[in-house]
Amino acid sequence: MADESISRRGLFMKLGILFNGLVATALAVPIVGFVLSSITRGRSNAYLAWVPLGPVNQFPEGETRLATFKNPNVMPTDGKTVDTSCWVRRVEGDQFQVFAINCAHLGCPVRWFPQSGLFMCPCHGGAYYRDGSRASGPPERGLFEYPHKVENGLITIQAGELPTPGASAALIGKKLPCA
Ligand code: FES
Repeated sequence: MADESISRRGLFMKLGILFNGLVATALAVPIVGFVLSSITRGRSNAYLAWVPLGPVNQFPEGETRLATFKNPNVMPTDGKTVDTSCWVRRVEGDQFQVFAINCAHLGCPVRWFPQSGLFMCPCHGGAYYRDGSRASGPPERGLFEYPHKVENGLITIQAGELPTPGASAALIGKKLPCA
């Protein structure tokens, strides 16, 4: 009887360990996948693509204009959300700045006011100078910029993910040598 009790206890112990192991594995797989995806995502540029904004003569020197492009990192079901806006500032000649439309605070779309020479955020009053640097309000930094290049009279930006204050923003804000 004692032997049978011990063996039954041992069996339940082994079943318990097996069950805990299965639960731990089931929980660990998505967590490990999430952690690894953030690492591999930072190394891969597969989701980034160069997309055209239009001929440079659409953007007069000294002015800032709104432009839209199709986000290359979308699903077929995304519909109109693939259309993304950005602010294009043509400083002079082929010298441009292309700003994300999203405020660097919490992402509300900023508007350009040529009269005051400021980008203004309607959500919490954030303001940015014409060169995208922070002027006032809660944002801790200037507007995010897209890497861009001018080739054959066409301005093109590197797009594919929304700028955020995370690591991806560092990528978006990084200027390329050709910019
Ligand atoms: S989201 Fe623009 S100031 Fe807060």
